[in-house]
Formats: sequence, structure tokens, C-alpha cells
Amino acid sequence: MAAKSSSILRRALLYVPASSPRMLTKSLGLTSDNITYDLEDSVTPSAKPSARHALQQHLTSFPSRPSSIRELGVRINAITTPFALADLTALAPLATVDAVVIPKVNSASDLTFATDALRHLALSRHDPASPDHNPIKLIALIESARAVTDLREICAASPYLSGLIFAAEDFALDLGITRSPSLSEFLYARSAIATAARAANLPSTIDLVCTSYRGAEGLARLEEECRGGKGMGFNGKQCIHPSQIETVQRLFAPGEAEAEWAVRVVVADEKAAKAGRGAWTLDGAMIDAPVVGKAKSIVEKAKMCDLDVEGLRQKWKDQEPE
Ligand code: COA
Ligand code: MG
Repeated sequence: MAAKSSSILRRALLYVPASSPRMLTKSLGLTSDNITYDLEDSVTPSAKPSARHALQQHLTSFPSRPSSIRELGVRINAITTPFALADLTALAPLATVDAVVIPKVNSASDLTFATDALRHLALSRHDPASPDHNPIKLIALIESARAVTDLREICAASPYLSGLIFAAEDFALDLGITRSPSLSEFLYARSAIATAARAANLPSTIDLVCTSYRGAEGLARLEEECRGGKGMGFNGKQCIHPSQIETVQRLFAPGEAEAEWAVRVVVADEKAAKAGRGAWTLDGAMIDAPVVGKAKSIVEKAKMCDLDVEGLRQKWKDQEPE
């Protein structure tokens, strides 16, 4: 059974190459829902051991995660490589690691392996009877045709699984297709991932990297991709540069108008429910149970994203159902 937690906020996931001392240092001063130190594709094979060692040193150089970062992750190498076990052995015992990102998850057995390794390497964190019980979360990168066709099994493979990530570049390589600005070639895979994660009650789905990050053009592209991903059901996006974080976190949070609408619906619904009315109207549109459910989840998310929900409730306290 997969981890059930709707309280995870993982809008931006920034990769930081573990082989770059400069970026490791820089990362701790950033504000982001997630920072993920990378041992996989941003590190060349010959540099893997030194990057792993540098990351281990880095993650033990501070007592706890800076408050501006909600979650610290590490991206290990694929389970089928000779590096994965050494990565897990070095990093899983560290208290500052909240999440392990597993690349190239091709089948449920990749996650079974990681789950068993975590239980052995960080015993008390994974022992439900221990006062230190606080399992490391797993996040699976889906980047092959095989993974997309095995999503159901992958989603059910580990109790620690807390999210899926779509990786466009490796997926395009696997299918022999080329990424286009419209991203239409990824429509099926992205929809399948967002839907499978929802069906398995995984709280987090993270969309493809926007590879352009410089200037007005890069920003426009990033904004368009964020809107598109959110519209397909993703609730976060991978980032490669600190300049992308603010935009991603803003666009994956409820917008001001969206939060205001949701608060009005929730306030009016409390009155409608007292009056025994299940369906009513607001601004000429019909509101019933699924719409109220959506409004409530937007309000919850707005609170997590530190929007002024109380202020909005005060502003709309007299909202009546029409
Ligand atoms: N994490 C932390 N800090 C980063 C960063 C990252 N991903 N990318 C850039 N920075 C820092 C730089 O160190 C620099 O800080 P400093 O001058 O205070 O030291 C600042 O942000 C500006 O960087 P900039 O000069 O614009 O970028 P760059 O040319 O140094 O690096 C990339 C550009 C793309 C090489 C770099 O952003 C990067 O390596 N990104 C991650 C790539 C990755 O992990 N790929 C695999 C996953 S898809
Ligand atoms: Mg990849």
C-alpha cells in the first residue's frame, strides 16, 4: 500500500549536482519545497565516488534542514547500475536525508530493492515500533515505455513511495522521439503518470524539466509548461536552475483568484449545508458536492502555500449561497 499523505508540498524540486562544491553550498541558502542532490546524470561515471563522498560530507555539515527548504532529497544512480547500493549505503543512514529519488524505475522490483535497503541501512527510522520512526520517502522517476506500462505495479511496490516524476529526455530517447515545444508527444505518458499516482493515492506528481532557463524567453516557456502540467494533474515540476524555483512554486500554488473563489464556495457551502441545500449557485454557476470538494482542497493547498486564507474568509464571511 502506498504512502497516503496529502500534506506533502513538493512544487519545485531543484536538482543540485553533487559534484559541484559551489552549488552544494549555494543550495542551503535557497527557498524551495524540495532540493534534490544529484548523483546520477549530472555526475560523470569517473566522478561518482568523489561526488558521493562530497555529498555525504555536505549532508553531515549541518544539524538539520534549513527552514527555507521543506525537504532534502538525494537522487541515487539507477538500481541496475553498480553505483546504487554504494549510494544508498552512504546516504540512507544520514538524518538530514528526507527522500531518495530513484531514477529509471522500470519495474516494481526496483522499488522493492530500495525499500529493503532502506530498512537495513536506517533501521530505527523504518521500524514502526521505534520512537524515531520517520521513513525516508521514495520518489520514482518514470522515464521508459516499460515503466509507463507498469505504473500500477510500480505505484503499489513500496509503502514509502510518495511520488512519481516524469523524465522527458530519457523517455524521448527510449521511444526514439524528439521533444517539441508543444510537448504533445508526451501527452499519453504524462496523463498516465498523473492518473496512476492519483489512483494509488500518491501525494506528489512532478512534471518534466524545462531546459531553457535564461531570459524572458526561458521564463515564458517555463510559465507555459507549468500551466500545462498543472492542467494535466501534476502538482510540481523539476528545476535545474535556482531562477526557476519562484515561478514554479507560484504557478503550482493556487492563484489569488482561485483561492478567493474557493473560500467563497466553502463559506457559502457551510450556510447551504445548514439550510439543507446540496446544490446551489455562485456567480450564476451551479455548485454541488464535487465542486465543493475541489474548493476545499484548494483552500487546504492555499493554507500550505502560506496564502492569507484567514484574510479571505474575513472578507467573504457574509457570502451567501444564491
Ligand atoms: N543548484 C544550486 N545552485 C545553482 C544551480 C543548481 N542547480 N544552478 C546554478 N546555481 C548557482 C550557481 O552556482 C551560481 O551561484 P554563485 O555564482 O553564487 O556560485 C548561480 O546559481 C547562477 O548560476 P549560473 O551562472 O546562471 O549557472 P551556471 O552556468 O553556473 O550553471 C547549469 C548552469 C545548467 C550547468 C546548472 O544550473 C546546473 O548544473 N543545473 C543542474 C543540472 C542537473 O542537475 N541536471 C540533472 C538533472 S535534469
Ligand atoms: Mg533521466
